Amino acid sequence: MDIEKIRADFPILSTTVYGKPLIYLDNGATTQKPKCVVEEIEKIYYTTNANVHRGVHYLSQQATDLAEESRVVVQQFINAEHSKEIIFTKGTTESINLVAHSFCQQFCVEGDEIIISAMEHHANIVSWQLQEAIRGIKLRVIPINEKGELKLDELQKLISSKTRLISVMHISNVLGTVNPIEKIIEIAHAHSIPVLIDAAQSVQHMTIDVQKLDCDFLVFSGHKVYGPNGVGVLYGKEKWLNQMPPYQGGGEMISTVSFKGTTFNELPFKFEAGTPNYPDVIALGTAIKYIKNIGLDSIKAYEDQLLEYCTDELLRIKDIRIFGTSDKKSSVISFLVGNIHHYDMGMLLDKMGIAVRTGHHCAQPLMEELGIEGTVRISLAFYNTKEEIDQLVAGIKRVASMFG
Ligand code: ALA
Repeated sequence: MDIEKIRADFPILSTTVYGKPLIYLDNGATTQKPKCVVEEIEKIYYTTNANVHRGVHYLSQQATDLAEESRVVVQQFINAEHSKEIIFTKGTTESINLVAHSFCQQFCVEGDEIIISAMEHHANIVSWQLQEAIRGIKLRVIPINEKGELKLDELQKLISSKTRLISVMHISNVLGTVNPIEKIIEIAHAHSIPVLIDAAQSVQHMTIDVQKLDCDFLVFSGHKVYGPNGVGVLYGKEKWLNQMPPYQGGGEMISTVSFKGTTFNELPFKFEAGTPNYPDVIALGTAIKYIKNIGLDSIKAYEDQLLEYCTDELLRIKDIRIFGTSDKKSSVISFLVGNIHHYDMGMLLDKMGIAVRTGHHCAQPLMEELGIEGTVRISLAFYNTKEEIDQLVAGIKRVASMFG
């Protein structure tokens, strides 16, 4: 990969903070946007802006065609069987909430169980807790081992005749662990239990094939795949989505409305109430084409090298503790150095132009499990370089020396 050429596509990477060149290592929170994505959004508003699926006029047709082409781009990106299995949402969180609400409404009664894991993001915990409160379902949690890996033998024990769905993240946003989702899906399907995969931290780092995986649902966010904020994806197998009731009412999700009763539209529109965020849907397609053009395999190979280099260099730092030491990791490293508070480390690195995330990373139950309040987290993208990692390591050493 020609990193210099790629970096030139991201104007923000040439900016400075506090007079220092920006080193952006918070890609797990959000990725930077290539020029083509920003230009696409500008182009839509300047040349093609009109509400989709609502007009016979030229602009509305154009906008509708572009948005529906984007659905096909997403379909091909994750190799879904049908484009109608791609639902556009606000993001990963809304996608999980949609499934939690509609799936539980259709398939769960009081006492039924949903299995998640101890490393989940709040979105994949709280969405189900809301259903606990509404419908009296129960959450069961797959524990993790000391390396930050799921204990799959425990999963077997958690499954019962009451289990209705298993919902797990593909890659941990804290530990970087790549979970064995193929195995989880195999175990679940042996019991006829559907599986939701939270791919928010994985679709941007590796090729995902939902048909090969045979997952029942898969969710991700646009802004973490170099696309715009405010748009995300829910993939669901047609057989599930067809049986699930709508999540919200209004707009294109209706077929007919009367005060005697309303009928609902077909997939995917049944789940897309209100005016869709079509400019960002279209620009998400542009982002996906951009990363596909670089190549997910090349991205993975390069990022894996960076991760290995970064881990090796970090491990040379005295008193560093890395959280998440699985052999199967991707792009994320969480750490603490000695007794230095994660906020202090983050704020001092920031003054050197280095952007990292600090805190609990929306995974408080995992922090509790690890017995800590938070970590410093670096999360890599394909535009990062070894030189940036060298600067990071030098920065961490400087902070450590300030604290004696
Ligand atoms: N979930 C995102 C992160 O891990 C925001 O930073």
